[in-house]
Amino acid sequence: MTAITEAVSLEKEGEIGMLWIDNPPVNALGYPVRKGMQDGITMAMKDNGIKAVVVICKGRTFCAGADIREFGKPPKEPHLPDVLTTFDQCTKPIIAAVHGTAFGGGLETALSSHFRVAVASAQFGLPEVKLGLLPGAGGTQRLPRLIGPEKALPMIATGNPIGAAQALKEGVIDEIIDGDLAKGAVAFAKKVLAEKRPMRKVSALTDKISGVKPEIFANYRKELNKSARGFEAPEACVKAVEAAVGKPFAEGLKYERELFTQLMMGSQSAAQRYYFFAEREVAKIPDIPADAPLIDIKKVGIIGAGTMGGGITMNFVNAGIPVTLVEVKQEFLDRGLGVIKKNYDITASKGKMTADDVTKRMGLIKGTTQMEDLKDVDLVIEAVFENMDLKKEIFRKLDAICKPGAILATNTSYLNVDEIAAQTKRPEYVVGLHFFSPANVMRLLEVVRGAKTAIPVLATAMAVAKKIKKIAVMVGVCFGFAGNRMFAQRKREVDKLILEGASPAQVDKVIYDFGFPMGPVALLDLIGIDLGWSKDNSKGRTMQEVLCEAGRFGIKNGKGYYNYAEGSRAPKPAPEVDAMIKEFAAKKGFKPRAISDEEIIQRCIYPIINEGAKILEEKIAVRPSDLDVIWVNGYGWPVYRGGPMFYADLVGLDKILAVMKKFQADLGDDFKPAPLLEKLVKEGKKFASLN
Ligand code: 3HC
Ligand code: NAI
Repeated sequence: MTAITEAVSLEKEGEIGMLWIDNPPVNALGYPVRKGMQDGITMAMKDNGIKAVVVICKGRTFCAGADIREFGKPPKEPHLPDVLTTFDQCTKPIIAAVHGTAFGGGLETALSSHFRVAVASAQFGLPEVKLGLLPGAGGTQRLPRLIGPEKALPMIATGNPIGAAQALKEGVIDEIIDGDLAKGAVAFAKKVLAEKRPMRKVSALTDKISGVKPEIFANYRKELNKSARGFEAPEACVKAVEAAVGKPFAEGLKYERELFTQLMMGSQSAAQRYYFFAEREVAKIPDIPADAPLIDIKKVGIIGAGTMGGGITMNFVNAGIPVTLVEVKQEFLDRGLGVIKKNYDITASKGKMTADDVTKRMGLIKGTTQMEDLKDVDLVIEAVFENMDLKKEIFRKLDAICKPGAILATNTSYLNVDEIAAQTKRPEYVVGLHFFSPANVMRLLEVVRGAKTAIPVLATAMAVAKKIKKIAVMVGVCFGFAGNRMFAQRKREVDKLILEGASPAQVDKVIYDFGFPMGPVALLDLIGIDLGWSKDNSKGRTMQEVLCEAGRFGIKNGKGYYNYAEGSRAPKPAPEVDAMIKEFAAKKGFKPRAISDEEIIQRCIYPIINEGAKILEEKIAVRPSDLDVIWVNGYGWPVYRGGPMFYADLVGLDKILAVMKKFQADLGDDFKPAPLLEKLVKEGKKFASLN
């Protein structure tokens, strides 16, 4: 065996050269790998004893792409496209042997090889678009030549991977290997030599890119306008695939590089690359060791089969974990179980699960009206009404019923987890698990760390979250925890802006154009204006009360800030509401003025950032990037803007501080700058310095 670099070695198996890549954890194509691949292929070419080369990886995966940590730093030769040209032009057949994930530059390496084999569990994808990029080492030119632009487009522009079976069907790979990959790949290489198979240079293929109908691009763009609004990279992907069809290979490659460089220098890719690492950092809690002991969660209890309890139940049974679901009355239990069944039936009707899956999942739920049935569960999640007395009573009961060592969690949105924990003799086993609605869909989970919550309980909560496919962010106890506490800032400003003279439609358009999936006023109509409203106490004190008193509850009854046609969620102007707003604003002493779109952004976003700074100061969140993960996953913040804290760094903390101070002078102490914001500006630092 010859070590070429610290990450690549060349070994001979008879006439087959085995180019082994070993760069843990994911064999990213950093400098030692690129250099090793380049020199290894050159060496194999010169070695008369080698007739074919197998490129194969050690560890858990084939190359997962370029080394993202190198992006933004001065590039070091050899560059990946040049390495892959060496592959392409190698006169001896190169066989890529894939296990794990051939992603990004990894798949591009495989595409530049002459043959591809893989184990059945392998995955193939070009996820660069998720980093705000496009494949920059020939992927946009080779994949369409191999499988045709129609199939290549979604892979490149959505970044979603395909499995080995599909890859075989579509011609991405040549064979699936059963058993040992290295042995299978060597056998395949020998077959190629014995059969004198012609070298299949993907760059030279033309059949799949001839006679392509131009409308496939127009049609695909229409799809993207809906699914990728605001993102720059998907359009660049389409342009590059168009070039694969319209230009010679070398020119297409050059064009791809230009687009890649443009995207790499832009703010969207910077944000999306930052976010990639933010989502991985979030699981790391400074005082919780990676090998902290975990509590085995085999059975879960959920109390309350309402909106949240039902969704939370689905998460667990989807992961194969049985749930005991407790309600106060059989009638409520039946209703809750009915909603869960209906949700699964809808999924099955879309062909995303079988009727058998629905039966199996429903079979994992045991409904009961007896809390005592929770005596043997390992984790209980309480999701009853948001009422402290009720929650306290439930936790006292749970403490008596549940076995020692069981984790007792609350899904409260705002209440004090420590106060709830104090009702039990085991506060170290009490934790907040704050799911977001709809709980079976939203990826975010705030794990609320009480003052006494034990490390194994927290570590288990984080691990369970991963098992049920949530992104867990650890936060501390305060009103609304991190997400809702920050969100309240925007809600307050939206309410005020409308009274000061901005129309709901203007506010909604500005926030929607910023990249949120919907405007904040339309969101209120969706959630229900009457949430938390009670007729008995309503005295026309707020716009919410005025609207509810007028019977305007939102989409649910077709009338909110906007009007809605029956069965439709599309907002239509409601002149009668404009009149109500004007009247209420005048009563409250507001003098209507024209409000700029810029002010709407600043009023809605800067206080969120300021509150984030306070949260960090109070150590409610571990790091700024955790807050960004919360906003992207829980509140629809556009990932191409990184999250509020990343965005703040981009805008400039000095500018944000100056605007906050001006607003404070004009509009009051809702805008009082957080001391941490002042401190960072004074020190010339960014939030990133705290990550
Ligand atoms: N570069 C640098 N580090 C990477 C990386 C990459 N491409 N991919 C993963 N890592 C790191 C992660 O940050 C993490 O580090 P940590 O342990 O210090 O937190 C570690 O590898 C393990 O990653 P995951 O926690 O994500 O492990 P999983 O097993 O859950 O997932 C994976 C593995 C599916 C490969 C996933 O990591 C992934 O999707 N990686 C990114 C793939 C990607 O986007 N590739 C394209 C890169 S851009 C490119 O190739 C440009 C080219 O066209 C020129
Ligand atoms: P919900 O009103 O839809 O459901 C609550 C359910 O609990 C009802 O079905 C009720 O019958 C049941 N229940 C009440 N007392 C009970 C008891 N003693 N034993 C068993 N069941 C009992 O309420 P929702 O929206 O599901 O909220 C539940 C909790 O989740 C609240 O703490 C809320 O703050 C929190 N939450 C709500 C979110 C939302 O968007 N709805 C988001 C995140 C958290």
